[in-house]
Amino acid sequence: MTYDDELAARYPAGFLWGAATAAHQIEGNNINSDWWAREHAVPASVKEPSGDAVDSYHRFDEDIRLLADAGLRTYRFSVEWARIEPAPGCFSNAELAHYRRMIEACVTAGVEPMVTLMHFTTPQWFAQSGGWTQERAVELFVRYVRRVMGILGDDVRLVCTINEPNIASMMARFHDESADLQAAGLPEPDMAIAEALRDAHKAAVSVLREGGYQAGWSVATQAFYADACEDRDGAPTADEVLRAYAWPRERWFIDAARGDDFIGVQAYTRTRITASGPQPVPDGAELTKNGWEYYPQASGDGIDLVRAMLPDMPIYITENGIATDDDARRVDYLRGSLTAIADRIEGGADVRGFYCWSLLDNYEWGDFAPTFGLIAVDRETFERTAKPSLGWLGQIAQRCRE
Ligand code: BGC
Repeated sequence: MTYDDELAARYPAGFLWGAATAAHQIEGNNINSDWWAREHAVPASVKEPSGDAVDSYHRFDEDIRLLADAGLRTYRFSVEWARIEPAPGCFSNAELAHYRRMIEACVTAGVEPMVTLMHFTTPQWFAQSGGWTQERAVELFVRYVRRVMGILGDDVRLVCTINEPNIASMMARFHDESADLQAAGLPEPDMAIAEALRDAHKAAVSVLREGGYQAGWSVATQAFYADACEDRDGAPTADEVLRAYAWPRERWFIDAARGDDFIGVQAYTRTRITASGPQPVPDGAELTKNGWEYYPQASGDGIDLVRAMLPDMPIYITENGIATDDDARRVDYLRGSLTAIADRIEGGADVRGFYCWSLLDNYEWGDFAPTFGLIAVDRETFERTAKPSLGWLGQIAQRCRE
């Protein structure tokens, strides 16, 4: 038996193997969204606009087939509020039908869909009328959720309400401060936005449960770790600094998942915290293409954190992966991550699925340079080319079922 055979054998039957995407990052021409407006503002705060992205709006069928042919059995994708409700109260039946076709494409391919309702983008009208802190935010989100529920039918079981509410609560500040997502030193989240997202999430969860769906949100866990090298008598220790720093950026959002049907863990890298705060990646550490420390154990650390806070909560790894041009290094990363997850499952963690970020090279919130995909896309012709890592992950999934 090879290492990978043994790795696959450590996963339970019924474990869901798949990949994830987000509408704005792959569909293209999401012109009624707040992100599109941001990309085209003068001066723009992003390097390049999303444009056609990778045209998955028209090519979702091919994308789902590539995933299924590789041996993967679940696809996490998001439906786009800005398309479904391009003006307040004006719902597009054609766009709802489009997402219904995506669900049907999954069913035809033998792939279980996990549907995300909000993955960072909102309609531009919603942003302009005050965004998440406007008085009617929860009501408006729930009205949209009810419409989406109408197309889920019996073919969808798992719904992720809001993607990374902790990062979403920081996003306005990333742009104010032109900081990078998850670089050392995350901005302080806007807690008014965080609370509104939580209220919108909880309201959506109860509506979705009425429809028989299982609902949760996905949190970007940060694998903060304390380094006591600067601890001094009488001053807050690295551990204390870490706890104060991590609570509003990560743990508040895990705590808020209490009572949900599941939580999504989204993990990529780690951050060292000393008594003086978060530190940049240490010199000499391997960096991924977007400047994060290469740290495949991030998913395992995320599971540990969730279990410590919410011991019985079912967990899906709703995102995990690496931006790299070296696909062999992607396989190494995924192998390391899947080993860490298997260790946790054997230790009693209720981890039910793994979604690699991402199915496709995509628009990474500002530019196309960080390539997270299992599939490369030619941005002129939109031709898809599966990378060896897609086949590798699919084989793990298939061996696990044998
Ligand atoms: C987000 C994705 C993003 C990925 C890699 C997560 O924060 O949910 O949309 O592309 O990380 O940056």
